Amino acid sequence: MQAIWQAISHRAFHLSSARRFSRETNTVIFDDLRTIQLRHGFLPKAELEELSQRTQIPLYQIHSVASFYPHFYLTPPPKAEIRVCADMSCHLNGAAELRADIERRFANSWAEDVQIRDVSCLGRCDLSPAVSVNDHIFTNVTPAQAEQIARSAIRGEAIHEPHSEQTRVPCKSDPYSEAQQYGVMRALTQTKAWDDVLQLLKAAELRGMGGAGFPTSLKWDLVREQSNPVKYVVCNADESEPGTIKDRFIMTHLPHLLVEGMIVAGLVTGAKRGILYIRHEYHHQEEILAEEIRRCYRAGLLGKNILGSGLDFDLEIFVSPGGYICGEESALIEAIEGHRAEPRNKPPFPGQAGLWQKPTVVNNVETFVNVPQILARGVDWFTQQGVGGSRGLKFVGVSGHVSHPGIFEVPMGTSMRDVIFQHAGGIPGGRQLKAFAPSGPSSGYLPASLVDVPLDFKALAQAGSMLGSGAVVVCDDTTCMLDMALNAVRFYRNESCGKCVPCRVGSQKMTEMLVRWTRGGLPDSQYQTDLALLDELSEAMSLTSICGLGQIVPAPIQSVLKHFRAEIDAHVTKGQCPSGICFTLAARAGEMSRVGIRP
Ligand SMILES: Cc1cc2nc3c(=O)[nH]c(=O)nc-3n(C[C@H](O)[C@H](O)[C@H](O)COP(=O)(O)O)c2cc1C
Ligand code: SF4
Ligand code: FES
Repeated sequence: MQAIWQAISHRAFHLSSARRFSRETNTVIFDDLRTIQLRHGFLPKAELEELSQRTQIPLYQIHSVASFYPHFYLTPPPKAEIRVCADMSCHLNGAAELRADIERRFANSWAEDVQIRDVSCLGRCDLSPAVSVNDHIFTNVTPAQAEQIARSAIRGEAIHEPHSEQTRVPCKSDPYSEAQQYGVMRALTQTKAWDDVLQLLKAAELRGMGGAGFPTSLKWDLVREQSNPVKYVVCNADESEPGTIKDRFIMTHLPHLLVEGMIVAGLVTGAKRGILYIRHEYHHQEEILAEEIRRCYRAGLLGKNILGSGLDFDLEIFVSPGGYICGEESALIEAIEGHRAEPRNKPPFPGQAGLWQKPTVVNNVETFVNVPQILARGVDWFTQQGVGGSRGLKFVGVSGHVSHPGIFEVPMGTSMRDVIFQHAGGIPGGRQLKAFAPSGPSSGYLPASLVDVPLDFKALAQAGSMLGSGAVVVCDDTTCMLDMALNAVRFYRNESCGKCVPCRVGSQKMTEMLVRWTRGGLPDSQYQTDLALLDELSEAMSLTSICGLGQIVPAPIQSVLKHFRAEIDAHVTKGQCPSGICFTLAARAGEMSRVGIRP
């Protein structure tokens, strides 16, 4: 418990940022919840009742927020809470076996001492398998290491999370030497040429890097033309989709470009306040950005009357209370406001009515980082960085079955073959490439025969996939694609916020169906019924889910049906897993416990 307290208390700087919102709006209760949790290690009922009386927020509302986020505990946690990431990249690198081994090692332990469970992607996909013990993340973990760390926690000893990325890596994307940093915004505070910025971003055809690829100049223009004098700029650094690790790298190595991109967005749109929303598992990046922000305040680049220009812009960090759905822009806004992170119905879009119903720019980390590059070096430079007609540079995270998993800065338009074989070192152990997900579960899986597809919005869409957030997950020829589809669908099922029925019920139904398929032995009539139901469910979810999560749930299994149909048929009709994955006892027991079916 002491370790959990330490994990929370070292982040006091950021909690005070949230407190400023709290005073303004009386809606944010995270600050109070965190203070209570810091005192007790969890949220005792009596404390919640006292909070309700003090703030006049109904108890049910406080409870509904506290119970939504994985970061809050309503009951005392064990001394060591071990969570094993079960998602794509970790799954490909032995997470199920790791968890089974850890469970064996603690088979005779008390529940007050240790609890072991799955957790969604921890943002360390390149260093898989990843495990968290009392919110401290450990990577490339062996069962013996996990046991040792957990036993230290049980003894009440402090445990420390290692930082793997200490030294800054020079990036092509950085237009500056150290002395030149923030040159673009310095010039803008003099010229105030806001229209030119929008024109340049439009000419560069900069598109959002968070997944949807929306044109950035249009979004900024929309916010700029709103008459409301209060506006916000929000950076989405939630990055929680399995395989997505590029923003972690960018925040580590290019924090000044991110901060500058956000300031430029504020100046151009007339927003005076920015919020950098970061996932709570990125402690190290949070520290780097907090230091960068402090540096900017000291240099007069942030705050009132920036560099004597008469312009104001404040920037704060907001640490996410957790959950993949918080990355959806309207859910993220709800979280900042202190509510459950449930996506809003759209329209209106955040550009019209976002944070506290004010016009709000929400952009991804990489999108903001592209802005100073384009403004400093010009549209021609940006255009020339891509290959084969694509524009700009792109950060891609590559994980799964590759020799050198990591984050690579490549020209947009680079072929997936080069990304996987040149940059990430190809498939280890003399195995062959079988499939790859161009961008985590949401992109579905493409077969090795399509490995020459370029890293590009249009080309990947034509291949039936998407560029998404550039999270390439690679599967070698030992992989069972039905198992991978199930893994992806289960992730969505676990992370569905439950607000709308198609997603809440549909993702569970789909998970149950795929579990049934992995077990095999289905009569043909049942298989045909399942296939028809799957299509119906997919259509209903795509058309009627409130947000992108529910719409994308069918993508992994639909792609596997398209490209690996024979493999699914072998499971269902012949009871054979060609890769020998689905019929191992460990795999079956693992899957069944996760969907609530007893073996
Ligand atoms: C379930 C879900 C999760 C998302 N997670 C992220 C995320 O972690 N980071 C991100 O930038 N965008 C994420 N998005 C997309 C955002 O809603 C939004 O489109 C994006 O932040 C806009 O920034 P951009 O235009 O710069 O891409 C997510 C969308 C959905 C539906
Ligand atoms: S689609 Fe899923 S995640 Fe999105 S609002 Fe509906 S239930 Fe929530
Ligand atoms: S850390 Fe396990 S899939 Fe990302």
